[in-house]
Amino acid sequence: FLVSKGNHRHFMEKEIHEQPEVISHTLANYLDFSKGTVRSNAAPVDFARIDRIAASACGTAYYAGLIGKYWFEHIARLPVDIDVASEFRYREMPLSKDSLALFVSQSGETADTLASLRYCKQQGLTIGSVVNVRESTMARESDTIFPTLAGPEVGVASTKAFTCQLSVLASLAVIAGKMRGTISEDDERRLVHELSEIPRYATQALKLEQQIEAISRDLSQVKHALYLGRGTSFPLALEGALKLKEISYIHAEGYAAGELKHGPIALIDESMPVIVIAPYDHWFEKTVSNMQEVAARGGKIILITDERGAAASTLKTMHTVILPDMPEIITPIIYALPIQMLAYYTAVFMGTDVDQPRNLAKSVTVE
Ligand code: G6P
Repeated sequence: FLVSKGNHRHFMEKEIHEQPEVISHTLANYLDFSKGTVRSNAAPVDFARIDRIAASACGTAYYAGLIGKYWFEHIARLPVDIDVASEFRYREMPLSKDSLALFVSQSGETADTLASLRYCKQQGLTIGSVVNVRESTMARESDTIFPTLAGPEVGVASTKAFTCQLSVLASLAVIAGKMRGTISEDDERRLVHELSEIPRYATQALKLEQQIEAISRDLSQVKHALYLGRGTSFPLALEGALKLKEISYIHAEGYAAGELKHGPIALIDESMPVIVIAPYDHWFEKTVSNMQEVAARGGKIILITDERGAAASTLKTMHTVILPDMPEIITPIIYALPIQMLAYYTAVFMGTDVDQPRNLAKSVTVE
């Protein structure tokens, strides 16, 4: 296929900007906005009969799955085990035939994820895959595919495929919740409406680009960075750290904010920027108290929050990125955009090969 960068400097920049549109296409496959309902036929799986989801994936797709776990467990009361595919495939975990084996992959060709899929197939599980490439091996070998409609993704560091994977997983959690009777019709209507707002909020998040470019200039001066978050912001902290190290080669770690005092706090000093992902959700107060611990040790905080969060926090930060207030379910999808832009611009300042970072491949088809 031939895809062009258009007016963009890099494919990654182009793909970041495509998100409102491709998320909108993807959501329309699972949700009927005019009726305010899910399209249950988009998921030909009887979620009411499933005892759990056994999920695996690699890289950014794995982090999408981790966020999905929060949604499935919270909305559909459906337990999810998720593992990186390179562990899953050899772990010989006890599996039940009543579980759904779920795989998340942009390419549909990642060797470890494919091996995990084949293992689950052998064990007699129903196989579902969230894939972007419809003609891929995983798509062919699955019982059910849950497509992301991100279009071709060229930048090695995944961006639009990630937010489309999240959009699919959130929609599936609502579908599963409906089938399992864990949400009411009103809940369904409200959740579908909230998800329908993702493209609009994503467009607003993109407007923060100039501010994030300025913050990235500071970030490009450091050797290490720490990302913290709680709840669904925790896997997003992992993804933020992954994005930064992948393309800027700055060492970064993501942590659950509550784990700060179990190790990473030892690293905090004046030279350590800490990127705190903290929407004003029911974890906010807890995250702020973790930030206080960082601030007390001279750590430089880059806070990514919303209007309510910015008003409620009295902490001194180096930078505060303020998104609009938004429904809780969509925060990991919208907050992914500033996280991606931060990595992107930092890499641009570092002068690295953003679309093809050293030693990395778009699709890892060998073990
Ligand atoms: C590589 C890419 C990542 C991607 C991962 C999984 O490491 O650089 O961006 O998240 O593979 O790829 P998949 O195609 O299975 O989503």
